[in-house]
Amino acid sequence: MTSTQRIELPDGVRTNGADPNPWWANSVVYQIYPRSFQDTNGDGIGDLKGITSRLDYLARLGVDVIWLSPVYKSPQDDNGYDIADYRQIDPMFGTMDDMDELLATAHRLGMKVVMDLVVNHTSDEHPWFQASRDANDPHADWYWWRPAKPGHEPGTPGAEPNHWGSYFGGSAWQYDAKRGEYYLHQFSKKQPDLNWENPEVRHAVYDMMNWWMDRGIDGFRMDVITLISKHLGPNGEMEDGEIGPEGYSNVYWFCEDGPRLDEFLQEMHREVFDGREGYLTVGEGTGIDGGPRDEFITDPRNRELDMLFVFTHLDIDHGEGGKWTPKPMRLTDLKRTMAAQQNAVASHGWASIFLDNHDQPRVVSRWGDTSTDELRVKSAKALALLAHLHRGTPYIYQGEELGMTNAGFTRLDQYRDLESINMYHQRVDEAKVESAEDMMAGLAAQSRDNARTPMQWDSTPYAGFTAADVPTQPWIEVNPNHTVINAEAEVADPDSVFAFYQRLIELRHTNPIVAAGDWKLLDPDDEQVYDFLRSLPEENPEERRSLLVIVNCGSTSAHIPHDAAELIHGAVDASRIVLSTTDPDMAAASLLLGKLSPWEGIVYQL
Ligand code: GLC
Ligand code: CA
Repeated sequence: MTSTQRIELPDGVRTNGADPNPWWANSVVYQIYPRSFQDTNGDGIGDLKGITSRLDYLARLGVDVIWLSPVYKSPQDDNGYDIADYRQIDPMFGTMDDMDELLATAHRLGMKVVMDLVVNHTSDEHPWFQASRDANDPHADWYWWRPAKPGHEPGTPGAEPNHWGSYFGGSAWQYDAKRGEYYLHQFSKKQPDLNWENPEVRHAVYDMMNWWMDRGIDGFRMDVITLISKHLGPNGEMEDGEIGPEGYSNVYWFCEDGPRLDEFLQEMHREVFDGREGYLTVGEGTGIDGGPRDEFITDPRNRELDMLFVFTHLDIDHGEGGKWTPKPMRLTDLKRTMAAQQNAVASHGWASIFLDNHDQPRVVSRWGDTSTDELRVKSAKALALLAHLHRGTPYIYQGEELGMTNAGFTRLDQYRDLESINMYHQRVDEAKVESAEDMMAGLAAQSRDNARTPMQWDSTPYAGFTAADVPTQPWIEVNPNHTVINAEAEVADPDSVFAFYQRLIELRHTNPIVAAGDWKLLDPDDEQVYDFLRSLPEENPEERRSLLVIVNCGSTSAHIPHDAAELIHGAVDASRIVLSTTDPDMAAASLLLGKLSPWEGIVYQL
């Protein structure tokens, strides 16, 4: 089941407003976190050769595009999101020849390859930054340099230009003794923000992007791209904000959706993508809600990006202290945020659909039920069906198709992610806003490392991620549940989560209603059942074709809510079950009785 079976959407089916419909409108993307996917040389770190060796698995799953998290040369402070050379592969991952081979093999199997583009910042080890440390160098203005606060000795505590805090802990300003000034870093101090106001910076980025596109890649996933334009005051002022309990103010208002964002994205489009075909661009839409800005940026008439990752639906279980103090998710909040995202791009623009990525905990642990393996499988399928039946381009994060779970770490020394480690120290040891116990619980629920444990290929000691007899341990612990949850077992099992994902992908490829039909939320107030309608208008309203999607998002049975029940009105035909998490006869019986079993999900053709 490879992308070759994906149908071309008929002209009458409208997608993002472009004509003809873009190829990615009924495609599915698979994200690979290279470090954790497949190790081939026994150093305990995944590599490019490993990815190439597993491409047949991805072709079998049926995905159309793979997105690689960064594999460029990097000191790996933030696992490659800190790039020291955009035109080299980090030796840890392999060579440029390995990259070319990966590309050629993927293309031969009918899959496209999208690279991560991290250009809000570079590594502090990038030659641009090193040059910028000299105030007389032509690169002096390529980053955000500012002097110490007036009246303070540079480099001493409290002399930072203002109180902005970094997302990864500490001040967002780092003093550089050579230059005698501070540089801005929203993320780690090894990730200085580039100054996009400087046209030389922008053109250097576009040159690099063209270099990769010419090499044959099929587009970019753009890291925090909505943070590149900064909200400067008329004289270059940077306004401080209110200081929070951890001792810092928020930097986000300065960076999110800045005044020149559209201009920069349009310029990038002109310089890199105009005249090219068959590519895909997706931006990490930090700070963009499902609303008019999402529509504007992804409307093809504006020539910016094909789609954005909007995060509003993944913030709903963050508590008062943010992501580290999680609270239970309310289904009505999920419906509300998803509806806003879906409706924002209903007539122009396009959505990406995702529940997992390398920065998020595993959705089956987060919103599903992992108390027994049976419930894990059921809830993984239900959540997959729920996500994949929305309108937009679905993204699968490695291992999601197996129902992989959170890491289950209980000690700080098991964590590798700098955000998790730094924030633990900041919140527990320094600011003392949380107890060690609570923070460990917060990490267990929300740490990015939950998504980063090695891919579970089989039941051997290192899960097939690396050979069982290698001398080096994997860079992060393998989840002990790999003896039960692994690709080898699931590929062979027609009832597995993997097999269910294959069906979802096939449906996306072949059913225009799934790909592009209108989306309408039903029963917005029901706290356990998530149901909606997908339909393609026909010239003759009698022929209007619709799919009813109903998912029980709980471990107890649930009544089919009012709006959905009205549409079924008692007459149920098992042959109209398009897909269900149980078998079609059981699903038909549930519809007839008006009652869903735990985590039952049904797609029914009206
Ligand atoms: C994005 C990436 C994340 C990274 C950050 C800084 O949010 O997805 O992994 O740490 O940007 O580059
Ligand atoms: Ca390796």
